[in-house]
Amino acid sequence: MLSERLLNELNLQLKYEMESANYYLAMAAYCDSLDLPGFANFFLVQGEEERFHAMKFYNFINDLGGKVTIYGFDNPRNDFSSLEDVFQSALKHEQFVTKRIHTILDLANEEKHYPTISFLQWFVDEQVEEEASMSQLLSKVKRLGEDNPGIYMLDEELAKRTFTPPATE
Ligand code: FEO
Repeated sequence: MLSERLLNELNLQLKYEMESANYYLAMAAYCDSLDLPGFANFFLVQGEEERFHAMKFYNFINDLGGKVTIYGFDNPRNDFSSLEDVFQSALKHEQFVTKRIHTILDLANEEKHYPTISFLQWFVDEQVEEEASMSQLLSKVKRLGEDNPGIYMLDEELAKRTFTPPATE
């Protein structure tokens, strides 16, 4: 049985995951405006991952017999000053999401809600990867600097990223 408090937190997280997809779509648009389609692709794929995360929450809430609530959200940030600014912002956002996952996990532990504890483990691991990937790209972009031809090599590398839904079972 899901408590009202835990159900609210799970529904809020569904919202944050959808909102993340929106953030990354805006970042993709900024990269496209710089004629860096590989960087744009990286964020488009990131957005697909976020929608996948959101649907995991949607299905989990349903499977537990809870009522899904869909929330709206504020406009994402659309103006960035540089690639470094984009990745700094993406990393900060992932750190926020990590804190959110840990907060829900703390509540699930407090309530001894074992299905939620087990469900969230996947997200705990996923957040380690998400933060690492944003942090590594931030370092690369900082090291290269915006006008370095190496940015175009990195752009080609990022153009290869594709979305493959991870096996859930
Ligand atoms: Fe779903 Fe990037 O956290």
